[in-house]
Amino acid sequence: MSTGDKRIYIFDTTLRDGEQSPGVNLNMEEKLALAQQLARLGVDVIEAGFPIASSGDFKAVQRIAREIKGPVITALARTSEQDIRAAYEAVKDAEKPRIHTFIATSEIHMQRKLRKTKEEVKEMAVKAVKLAKSLVDDVEFSAEDASRSEIPFLCEIFTEVIAAGANVINIPDTVGYATPWEFGEFIKAIREGVPNISEAVISVHCHNDLGMAVANSLAAVRNGARQVEVAVNGIGERAGNASLEELVMAFYTRRHCLGFSTGINTREIYRTSRMVSILTGMPIQPNKAIVGKNAFAHESGIHQDGVLKERETYEIMNPEMVGISSNKLVLGKHSGRHAFKIQLQKLGYDLEGEALDKAFHEFKQLTDRKKEILDEDLIMLLDSHLLGSGEEVYVFDHLQLSSGTKISSTATVGIKIKEELIEEAACADGPVEATYKAMEKIVNLPVKLESYSISAVTEGKDAQGEVVVRVSVVGETFMGRGLSVDIIEASAKAYLNALNKIVRKHPDLIQ
Ligand code: KIV
Ligand code: ZN
Repeated sequence: MSTGDKRIYIFDTTLRDGEQSPGVNLNMEEKLALAQQLARLGVDVIEAGFPIASSGDFKAVQRIAREIKGPVITALARTSEQDIRAAYEAVKDAEKPRIHTFIATSEIHMQRKLRKTKEEVKEMAVKAVKLAKSLVDDVEFSAEDASRSEIPFLCEIFTEVIAAGANVINIPDTVGYATPWEFGEFIKAIREGVPNISEAVISVHCHNDLGMAVANSLAAVRNGARQVEVAVNGIGERAGNASLEELVMAFYTRRHCLGFSTGINTREIYRTSRMVSILTGMPIQPNKAIVGKNAFAHESGIHQDGVLKERETYEIMNPEMVGISSNKLVLGKHSGRHAFKIQLQKLGYDLEGEALDKAFHEFKQLTDRKKEILDEDLIMLLDSHLLGSGEEVYVFDHLQLSSGTKISSTATVGIKIKEELIEEAACADGPVEATYKAMEKIVNLPVKLESYSISAVTEGKDAQGEVVVRVSVVGETFMGRGLSVDIIEASAKAYLNALNKIVRKHPDLIQ
């Protein structure tokens, strides 16, 4: 990257705003695994959570702060003393802790939601920043719904919070209402209207309600913003946040014209994206820029011909740049440990010792049921088995099924609970329903299946099926994921994965 490039700081909010996506509920191990991967990706800041929201959130932020080295670790807080002290307690052990405090500044939010005057809001913001600054050196202040706030008021509040010690002032387009040219002008007006702006970094946080979050972030950067708040795969509240991979690859691919650089290792993008999709249960649409299945696929004859003759005829980036391997080496029954390890390394997984033994064992088991093991199979296998999913109360043992077009389905399921094998059978119209009914007899939890989806991991009739379910219990939704060449087994594993998450979080529900 050219040395004259201006450095843009990547603030990742996948674990906070991203985790606010409907139905997403990550456990501690999953959050930690994701934070580790974000550090490997090279983000500058990880927003690890909102500690006051729950004790689970608090503990996860604390663990990330203690264990993840490299990026700044920040936590969100409203302006109340209680929120700020909770955020401080959670991040204080980080190598580089930051407190991120926010209050709404638009008329509609101040009048209708907060029922506060401008003066009161300003006072609360300044008081919060002063308190945060007395605890840590690095403080970020966000004016929620900034893009619908009055510019003179924003300039006033930003001037005062910078004087109170804020190092970063964040300008969110909270409801995704802005357009790029308007938002660019907006950032410029703030930059010019805040006399002490040189003492702080300008940050933006754009939502994607009108599909313009990335474009708005770019417009802001062009007008002086130097931190962008993003989420992997663009997940987040409602339509989500600006997508990390799109923004980073725009900076990289158009670096000669834009003149900005980031600290991201682009080769870790695809792996991070897969991990987020797997952990959140949010599939990536095939035509999603950068990481979608079709992002580098050339379908028409003219395009294929062009790419074969000269790649750049239709490719502005190459897949290897974002970590998509073009080497589709096929492994199988006779592949040894060495070939397996080499292939994992090519895919970005450096496993040794016990972790390698476990993965190799899983791989061998898969080769008994599937002839050709493709890269996608390996990635799925590794991500599902090596991501920390925590201790399992219910362990899948076996499944036996009788089903057909003219008979109802009968399933017999065996689940181990504390080493004791429990078996139940049930009948239903279809095999998945029969399996789930049998499992419900064993676990006896007050759950409701909210959604079920299935997809093939690779092409071919022998492809593994990946099942994702959402299961609700007392107003909370949990995602479960299962993988197998047998789709009913994948369905059972997905359901059990969700049930395990429920009882891990609510052990009191175990009967
Ligand atoms: O969208 C928003 O305004 C936010 C703030 C808390 C930064 O998420
Ligand atoms: Zn947001």
